[in-house]
Amino acid sequence: MNQSVILQLKNVTKTYPHRPASSMDSRHTVVLDNVNLTLNHGELLGLLGPSGCGKTTLLRIVAGFESISQGTVSIAGKVVCTNCESLAAEKRNTGMVFQDYALFPHLTVAENIAFGLKNQSKNRSQSIFSRHKPKAQIEQRVSEVLDLVGLSSLQKRYPHQLSGGQQQRISLARALAPQPTLILLDEPLSNLDVQVRNRLRAEIRSILKASATSAIFVTHDREEALAISDQIAVMRQGKIEQVGTPEDVYLNPASRFVAEFVTQANFLSATKKGSVWLTEIGEIPISQPELGDRHYAEAEMGDLMLRPEDITLIPDPKSNIVIGERQFLGREYHYCVSTASGKKIYARTNSAQAIAVGSRVNLGLNLTSGRIFPKFDGRDKSLASVS
Ligand SMILES: Nc1ncnc2c1ncn2[C@@H]1O[C@H](COP(=O)(O)OP(=O)(O)OP(=O)(O)O)[C@@H](O)[C@H]1O
Ligand SMILES: [Mg+2]
Repeated sequence: MNQSVILQLKNVTKTYPHRPASSMDSRHTVVLDNVNLTLNHGELLGLLGPSGCGKTTLLRIVAGFESISQGTVSIAGKVVCTNCESLAAEKRNTGMVFQDYALFPHLTVAENIAFGLKNQSKNRSQSIFSRHKPKAQIEQRVSEVLDLVGLSSLQKRYPHQLSGGQQQRISLARALAPQPTLILLDEPLSNLDVQVRNRLRAEIRSILKASATSAIFVTHDREEALAISDQIAVMRQGKIEQVGTPEDVYLNPASRFVAEFVTQANFLSATKKGSVWLTEIGEIPISQPELGDRHYAEAEMGDLMLRPEDITLIPDPKSNIVIGERQFLGREYHYCVSTASGKKIYARTNSAQAIAVGSRVNLGLNLTSGRIFPKFDGRDKSLASVS
């Protein structure tokens, strides 16, 4: 893959004026806080984070719909935005796909796609569409992108004659038609039902790869981000907490927040006792000096992360851990067990292991991926540094 950088955000901060308590109120709300991000050519970056963390704001800044308060944004090596200058959105050669499709209802599928190309002819004096036979070239490009999204037979339909999934593929075709440097997708699948959503996320990835288009895909669905992305950036309260491959982020979460948000792991309070950590389910031998985490070395207390798939249930009538819920999901069972203190722990086992609700069990732990997130004065290290 060509690794040239297509998008770079350096120390980007975005603030909005604080809701004025009085006209003298000069406080600001920080929505993006010193964000650094790099996207390489042809890569698909999943931007993942809870509602309100700044995902849409980041996309709108890259697209040119929002200004910034500090930092720089560069697209294909050219600075497009600083705190005092900003290149107009239509000159940035980016395409956007929105959650609500945003197709023009009075135009057919082919006309919707051609719309962006005709506008491009006006905006780009050097455009290949601005000179010889623009109409024929536009028609050819419309037919190419319809082929790419597999909907050639629908070009004469109007948006209301399409399913949600088809409308979203047309939105993608419309964004791809002008051959943008970068496509920005803001929760494009969140209006679709689960089955269409799962199928379409794979399709979107292969369409973007087939056209070698770089993209940022915003979602707050961790599974979607893991499934579709080359790299994932996890955001929280306007900051990027971790960037890495889906495997990196899942297996080596950089903070308790990332671990909780991305892996949906269990967390148990733990106290250091010599070389082990004491928890209510026993002494856990975890050492993670390889992480080079100075906070870990100093900590006396922490949260032990245990993934549901790393826990096995061992029936034992004398145990004080009880199975509270069991769900059959085809290939596996999901269990929720309660400890003596009432703490709930989630486990997943393959479907060969069916244990009745109410049974008592011990927990077998695969500790290769267990992690301690240090806490100081009862607070998690990442929280302490973020707030
Ligand atoms: N024009 C604005 N003026 C003031 N605050 C704003 C403005 N636009 C967004 N915000 C605030 O910035 C924060 C981030 O908003 P943003 O839309 O980027 O979040 P998001 O991560 O996309 O959330 P969601 O997942 O719900 O779409 C929110 O707290 C929001 O209220
Ligand atoms: Mg949003």
